[in-house]
Amino acid sequence: MRSTYDCPPSLDDEGVIAFCKSGFLTLEGVVDDETNRRTNEFVEEHDEIEPMEILREDWFVDGVIKNPVASGAIRSLLGKDFGLPILMSNHRVHTPQPAQEWHVDGGAKFGPQLDYLQVFYLPQECTREMGPTELLPGSHFLFSHRDAMKQIGRVRGSYYGVAPAGSIIITHYGIWHRRSESRVSSLRNNLKYNYWRRADPTRDWLMNPEFDVATADYSSPQPTYRQQFRDAYDTAEMYFWLRGEQDKFGLIGGQGWPMPGQRNDMPYGVPEGIK
Ligand SMILES: [Fe+2]
Repeated sequence: MRSTYDCPPSLDDEGVIAFCKSGFLTLEGVVDDETNRRTNEFVEEHDEIEPMEILREDWFVDGVIKNPVASGAIRSLLGKDFGLPILMSNHRVHTPQPAQEWHVDGGAKFGPQLDYLQVFYLPQECTREMGPTELLPGSHFLFSHRDAMKQIGRVRGSYYGVAPAGSIIITHYGIWHRRSESRVSSLRNNLKYNYWRRADPTRDWLMNPEFDVATADYSSPQPTYRQQFRDAYDTAEMYFWLRGEQDKFGLIGGQGWPMPGQRNDMPYGVPEGIK
């Protein structure tokens, strides 16, 4: 059954922009120990790729699906009354294993819109040796065919989702990812599920009165695997889309807005009618 949820947003403009830049947000140890313990027990008893029954457990829905910290971030990115997960997967893997191929999951769309999020919950600690999910920051803007991606091995600047038990990693559905290689003997659980946008995008996250569209920093850490400045353009356009103001977004190019690295406070080309 489909259902929605609402709660106060927890990200401000900088937080929303940070997500647009990297395509993910790690919330470390936000689920309580008791819920982690019960989840580990549950997946032990339901040794399945899709342990759907867990979505009917109130303790799991309250502690994980409606986790106060994670839902505040999801509410900020997907708007009010967002749709709750309708599918639960568990990447339950006996390690050690070689790395997976880089991929994006079926159904990924590339562009500034953000209508759904892919979320990972770690009910147990995941160390580097256990083969955490590996993400390529900013790759949610990079379209590639799966057959081309799978030839790529190690990528400079990739992020390993090493995190303590109870961590939740919120990702853009189109981000390039894979299970990284593992070196120790373990049984790794990593639950994956999606949230959905049900409201039109609008700027109803936390307001920071200091925030200024003209001087905000939209540039990403290197390497971005894009043409110079493209990372700032992509991020700014997604941010405008999330505000429901994509129609006001425009680029004059050259050294115009959004100038990476906050090089000056009076850039040319700042979209009009927005602050
Ligand atoms: Fe995947």
